[in-house]
Amino acid sequence: MPTSLIILAAGQGTRMKSDLPKVLHPIAGAPMLIHAMRAGAALTPDHTIVVTGHGADAVEAAARAYDDTVQIAHQAEQKGTGHAVAQAAPLLKGYTGDALVLYGDTPFISEETLTRMAEARRHHDLVVLGFEATDPGRYGRLKMTGETLERIVEFKDADAATRAITFCNSGVVAAASETLFDLIGELGNDNASGEYYLTDIVEIARAKGLSATAIACDEAETMGINSRPELARAEAAFQDRKRLEMLETGVTLPAPETVHFAFDTVVGRDAVIEQNVVFGPDVTLESGAHVRAFSHLEGCHVSRGAVVGPYARLRPGAELAENARIGNFVEVKNAAIAEGAKVNHLSYIGDATLGEGTNVGAGTITCNYDGVMKHHTTVGARAFIGSNTMLVAPVTVGDEAMTASGSVITKDVPDGALAVARGIQVNKPGLARKLFEMLKAKKTKKDQGAA
Ligand code: UD1
Ligand code: CA
Repeated sequence: MPTSLIILAAGQGTRMKSDLPKVLHPIAGAPMLIHAMRAGAALTPDHTIVVTGHGADAVEAAARAYDDTVQIAHQAEQKGTGHAVAQAAPLLKGYTGDALVLYGDTPFISEETLTRMAEARRHHDLVVLGFEATDPGRYGRLKMTGETLERIVEFKDADAATRAITFCNSGVVAAASETLFDLIGELGNDNASGEYYLTDIVEIARAKGLSATAIACDEAETMGINSRPELARAEAAFQDRKRLEMLETGVTLPAPETVHFAFDTVVGRDAVIEQNVVFGPDVTLESGAHVRAFSHLEGCHVSRGAVVGPYARLRPGAELAENARIGNFVEVKNAAIAEGAKVNHLSYIGDATLGEGTNVGAGTITCNYDGVMKHHTTVGARAFIGSNTMLVAPVTVGDEAMTASGSVITKDVPDGALAVARGIQVNKPGLARKLFEMLKAKKTKKDQGAA
């Protein structure tokens, strides 16, 4: 069944105590809204509509950055979840597929659950996602008769018997788009909050003789985020799941609880990730890559057999070919390191290309920034860059070329040439001993003066 998404993200999130709209608080490096959008994207929706309100511009920008086909419905005043969904009506006018309502602050609904909802839709006009709550708290309660969902009662409006129900509303609803908007058109706001409750469509649908049901998912999926402690718990839950997923797909993690993944980290089997490694967004490690302890990676690609760290930093655009080596206290940014090339100690390689089998000595820096613009450094294949070389970009060092240690390279080095660009050493025979004696005598005199 063709489906469109309506993602509610207009609420303020007062309990976050933040200037940032709630749905933009990140989990594993992505705003929680993006997690909700990703979950829904599994259904390959015809339209993805985000309903914005508080912080609308920032929410819209984040949604677009993730998916430039996203559509925005603005809810100027927050009059309830039913009113929020109604804002999407003009964008779905004449649409004959299903509409699925998700919440921007409920990031963990799984693809499998959404698929089960779509299946249930074949037999029912309205499908609500519910869960058995360990602590039902203030969730809306689902009143069932067998498979039939009779109505949803908000906590504030519930009597004691209804509050005793533990089968709760996650907020996720699926129906034919036309049916959904017809039902929403009939909503009133005569309730404890004076809001247009989306949940009231169930009772309206039943009165019209439409069928409604609720399917259940694991409570972990419906985890909503309203405060910082809940955000921290959500992050922990995400990390636990991601670590387990990595282990189950054949990644070696000697201390999984210390590794921090991003929402989109991709790791091939038999890769090894040691202790205390942190992943920012957009990292791919191929099979058999090895990331050693205390490394930080973002926006990079590490090929088979490459070794990174310990204590390495790979920044966006770092591209490591097979068997490349990036050692301790080395930072790589926007640079392609060819097969078997090595940068093992204390270096900065930025805006650069290193050829196959090239060895970069300790302390080497690509001086890529002139204070205004960035420039590129190219080093050919099988070159040897002496320790503490400054490569002042733009500059090219040829294949099988060498630079002498401590050189400041400002001119291109031809293939096979050795470049020496440093002060020339002069030895003064006996002068060191003489200097020592002079200095010691000076100190003795000074100590006697003090006594
Ligand atoms: C809602 C449900 C409740 C369910 C709970 C699950 C209703 C009336 N109640 O309650 O049954 O158990 O979620 O978490 O639907 N929003 C808007 N515009 C609005 C109001 C809300 O976009 O005018 C958005 C919020 O940003 C949020 C979502 O809708 O993403 C849910 O709103 P919230 O006020 O948190 O609803 P709850 O009271 O938690
Ligand atoms: Ca809520």
